[in-house]
Amino acid sequence: MQVTKTVEETRKQIKAWKKEGKTIGLVPTMGFLHEGHASLIKKCREQNDIVVVSDFVNPTQFGPTEDLEAYPRDFERDSKLCESLGTDLIFCPEPSEMYHDPHAFVSIDTLSETLCGKTRPIHFKGVCTVVTKLFHIVAPDRAYFGQKDAQQLAIIRKMVQDLNFDIEIVGCPIVREEDGLAKSSRNTYLSDEERKAALCLSRSVKLGQEIIHAGISAEELLGKMRAVIEAEPLAKIDYVSMVDALTMQPVEKADHNVLVAMAVYIGKTRLIDNFSYEV
Ligand code: PAF
Repeated sequence: MQVTKTVEETRKQIKAWKKEGKTIGLVPTMGFLHEGHASLIKKCREQNDIVVVSDFVNPTQFGPTEDLEAYPRDFERDSKLCESLGTDLIFCPEPSEMYHDPHAFVSIDTLSETLCGKTRPIHFKGVCTVVTKLFHIVAPDRAYFGQKDAQQLAIIRKMVQDLNFDIEIVGCPIVREEDGLAKSSRNTYLSDEERKAALCLSRSVKLGQEIIHAGISAEELLGKMRAVIEAEPLAKIDYVSMVDALTMQPVEKADHNVLVAMAVYIGKTRLIDNFSYEV
C-alpha cells in the first residue's frame, strides 16, 4: 500500500494505473476510521481494480467554534485498517497542500441550507470544495459515501450531476453498534453516561421506521420521534425533520420519497442519524 502526501505524487501514480486500464474507486474520509468506513472500503474493493482512501481532516468544513482541533486522529491505526482491507493508496495531505489563501470554493446552495446546514452554515461549502478537489486529484470512476451523512450524500449527488463529473456516486448503508448507535468518529467524545443517553437517537429512528406510512403527516411522525429524545435528560434536539429525499426541503406529508433526519446534542457532542422512506 502506498502513502502519498502531495497532489503531484498522487496524480503520477493514478496516471500510471489509468494507463494500465485500471478502474479507480475513491473513499473520501477524515480518518479515525471505524466499521462504517470499513464497509465503504470493502464495497470499493469489490467494485474497482484500485482502491484509494483519502485521510484528511478538512478544515474548511468546520465552523470557527467547532471541533477541528479536537477531531480524533490516528493515522497509524487508519493505515493498518486500510492495508488489511486491500487499499492500494492512502492520500493524506497536510492542509497547506490542499489550501492556500485566497481559495476558490464550490457550493450547492439550496440543498445546503436545511437540516445540518442551518446549524453549520459553512459546512457543506467546505465538503463540496474538498470533494471536488479530491475528485480532480484522484479522478475516480466511483466514489463511496455513507448514508449516515444523508444530506452530504444528496448534495454530492447533485454536485456531480450539476457540474458534470463523470463519477458514479455509491451510497452505502448506515453501520450501527450492536445496541443501535450509528457508528461515528465523534462517538469517542461520549462519556459512559452520554454513550447510554445517545441511544435515544437510534430508538427514535426505530420508532419512526415502525410508524411511518404513506401519507402520515410530518407533525404526527416527528412529534412522536421528538418525544423519545426529549425523554432523555442529557439530549438536546438540534432538529428532527422530514424532507424531500432529493431537494432536502421540508415536506408536510410522507407522500413521496422522503428523508427523516435528526441532529441531537448529547452533552457537547452533536450526533446525527436518519432513515429514508420510499413510497
Ligand atoms: O464524510 C466525511 O468524512 C467528510 O465530510 C468528507 C466527505 C471526507 C469530506 O471531508
